[in-house]
Amino acid sequence: MNRKPAIRQTAKVELPQILAVYPLAFPDEELRPLVSALLEGEAKVLSVGAFDGDIVGHVLFTLFDGEGADDKRAGAMLAPLAVLPEYQGQGMGSALVKQGLLQLTSMGTRQVFVLGDPNYYGRFGFQAEQNVVPPYPLPEEWRGAWQSMVLSDAKPLTPGHCRLPDAWMEPALWQP
Ligand SMILES: CC(C)(COP(=O)(O)OP(=O)(O)OC[C@H]1O[C@@H](n2cnc3c(N)ncnc32)[C@H](O)[C@@H]1OP(=O)(O)O)[C@@H](O)C(=O)NCCC(=O)NCCS
Repeated sequence: MNRKPAIRQTAKVELPQILAVYPLAFPDEELRPLVSALLEGEAKVLSVGAFDGDIVGHVLFTLFDGEGADDKRAGAMLAPLAVLPEYQGQGMGSALVKQGLLQLTSMGTRQVFVLGDPNYYGRFGFQAEQNVVPPYPLPEEWRGAWQSMVLSDAKPLTPGHCRLPDAWMEPALWQP
């Protein structure tokens, strides 16, 4: 990596700087309402930022319940993940994900889920997931994009649906 950003959990007051990253990283997608709803609402989230002075990258994990009696807050949904274009390809996205996974492990999260490119997420240990399913059915071509990884040697979640908070209950977030 050319630059050494600081990776740390974000503070509530940093929401405007976090939101500024998203239209630049995702010019064709509006993710700010989702990020705001998750960071300002009741959802239990882990928010990690990469800082080079300002925030230059960000990842959110939403904690959720699985269907089993002992699955309370055992799952986490990784999304969104964004790095400013001029900082991409320097290991920042990887550093954000790895830091998040470490923190989730220490918080007792058992399994992390993501909908994304297996070529990217495979490097962290994510694999295609079939037992725990997203809240809305995915199009056929996206099936391999639904992945998960079990943290350390934890027990996977009980098969069934992810019980994600309301901010995620929007079909458009689960469609191409
Ligand atoms: C995807 C993203 C977060 C990666 O962050 P980054 O800091 O560039 O990633 P890293 O430097 O850690 O890793 C770079 C590697 O990821 C690969 N990569 C980057 N974006 C990718 C993508 N969308 N799909 C697959 N691979 C991708 C690069 O080719 C590179 O591969 P290499 O290590 O084999 O050379 C960043 O490119 C980004 O914000 N993109 C726009 C928003 C987006 O698509 N977010 C992901 C949502 S699932």
